[in-house]
Amino acid sequence: MKIGILSSGGDCPGINATIRGVGKTALTNFGMEVIGIRDGFQGLLNKDCLPLDEESLSGLLSLGGTILGTSREKPFKKLLDGGTEEKPQIIFDAYHELGLDCLVCIGGNGTQKTAYKLSKLGINTVGIPKTIDNDVWGTDCSFGFDTAVAIATEAIDRLHSTASSHKRVMVIELMGHKAGWITLYSGMAGGADVILLPELGFDINRVNEAILERVKKGKPYSIVAVGEGLNAKHLSQLIEEGTGIETRETILGYVQRGGSPSAFDRNLATLLGGHATELIAKGKFNRMVCLKDNKISSLPLSEVSGKLKLVPPDHDLIIQGKRIGISFGN
Ligand code: F6P
Repeated sequence: MKIGILSSGGDCPGINATIRGVGKTALTNFGMEVIGIRDGFQGLLNKDCLPLDEESLSGLLSLGGTILGTSREKPFKKLLDGGTEEKPQIIFDAYHELGLDCLVCIGGNGTQKTAYKLSKLGINTVGIPKTIDNDVWGTDCSFGFDTAVAIATEAIDRLHSTASSHKRVMVIELMGHKAGWITLYSGMAGGADVILLPELGFDINRVNEAILERVKKGKPYSIVAVGEGLNAKHLSQLIEEGTGIETRETILGYVQRGGSPSAFDRNLATLLGGHATELIAKGKFNRMVCLKDNKISSLPLSEVSGKLKLVPPDHDLIIQGKRIGISFGN
């Protein structure tokens, strides 16, 4: 069999470990031929590929980013958004001209949706969920998330000393437009006083009350962790106006996505990559591999496509956070 691997969408720590997991399993266990496709679906449009062998798959485990490159190319994008009707057909032709038996698509929600649409055209696909945002539906966790949470937690830890020295409110914005997983996990682990998630929204009066309540208790500073979708800059202004306390914002940004994956992410990536290859060897296509209840398994791409995994309002960390006095702004 011949398989092609691509990474698409925003990069994250662990993609290279996944490429290695897929590639080495394919070469060593199943005698498959493996090629990498450059820059996501853009590389298929251009038939821009490279062979992946033992040598090129070596030294990847701890490497951040993606050796294949990535892009946000969405071949099924509506014509109005700059798409063309030909793109799906070009990809279909490229897949056959390259002699592929399966396309391994490493990516987030958008990528899994594209993989599903390609499968409906008759292309064999297997999806592997990746994103620091942890919002891919159907998997308990995507690799990249653990690393991002560690980076964000360290940043929140570091804000404490400067916040307390200056008696300021420090607002820190974490990635995740619609899903506040990084904000929740790093906010809790970093001991934020207020955690605001895009899923829950917030009432600024409740936020300011929580901050002023801390002042009354002799804690003249606060840390507010906020999801990207809620706009830290605007929030800072509202807090400063509402509490009279000097407020600063930090937007952590792309540093959350860079660098070497954590041990957890390396192992998750390796397991998912291996399982994806096993599915291909068994001819079980058009599925996304996942982590479910601590076990690696898979589910049909048709179930995943178009869905987003948001933080549920009754998440254990939210319930326990409220019990220990953390404000969620409502
Ligand atoms: O990787 C996911 C993510 O980090 C989102 O949280 C963020 O909104 C987005 O990517 C931004 O990435 P880019 O600027 O590369 O599109």
